[in-house]
Amino acid sequence: MPRKKLIAANWKMYKTPDQTHDFFRHFLPLVTNHHRDEIVVCTPCLDLHAAIESAKGSNVAVGAQNVHWANEGAYTGEISAPMLLALGCTHVIIGHSERRQYFGETDDTVNLRLKAALEAGLTPIVCVGEVLQEREAGLTEDVLRRQCDRAFHKISTKKAAKLVIAYEPVWAIGTGKTATPQMAADAHRLIRGEAATTFGEDFANQLRILYGGSVKPENAKALMSEEEIDGALVGGASLDPKSFAAIVHY
Ligand code: PGA
Repeated sequence: MPRKKLIAANWKMYKTPDQTHDFFRHFLPLVTNHHRDEIVVCTPCLDLHAAIESAKGSNVAVGAQNVHWANEGAYTGEISAPMLLALGCTHVIIGHSERRQYFGETDDTVNLRLKAALEAGLTPIVCVGEVLQEREAGLTEDVLRRQCDRAFHKISTKKAAKLVIAYEPVWAIGTGKTATPQMAADAHRLIRGEAATTFGEDFANQLRILYGGSVKPENAKALMSEEEIDGALVGGASLDPKSFAAIVHY
């Protein structure tokens, strides 16, 4: 069965609830009846309610950008998987490089968050990717292997069913530099190999691996034409409804 592509927006720390309603008012008519790809918009937590309300009954799902590993507890400022689920979220980004870079996210906390998301029935989008120095030092493969292995630690194939990976070379995020489709496809093959080792060949063949890092309407088609690339995680270009819709229609 061919893998259905997933086109995901990562709004990062942009937009208020009003601006969220506004986005959906413009975006939904541009993607009505688009069922070739799955579409999800990951908003700041405060905008989730507005997004879910706006997207109700449409072909667009809503996701969060982070999740804590406990179901509840004394964790000031955190939000749990059952809370996201209760609100109507279906997806969650985990281990984005900005969280790793600025907020102390580690491979181990990625693993904990992933387990919690899977346990709750959310679709996790786990981000992996090398920084520029690692690529230049020839360490890309080692880094991706380590990030995957540690993220997948002690997760059963059955539990992992909804897993989605996003390969985001950190040097391509928000910089206007994109990995060539070939570079991305090579990284995706390696990640799929790691998934095969942990979860088995069948699982790996069904696993969706998205590409992220300066995806724009102009380069979406070339990237999405690679057989290894099963969708996109889009930051900057997802904030504008027309440009995100153009990517969805690649
Ligand atoms: P970008 O961000 O599309 O703005 O490069 C991608 C991401 O951080 O997920």
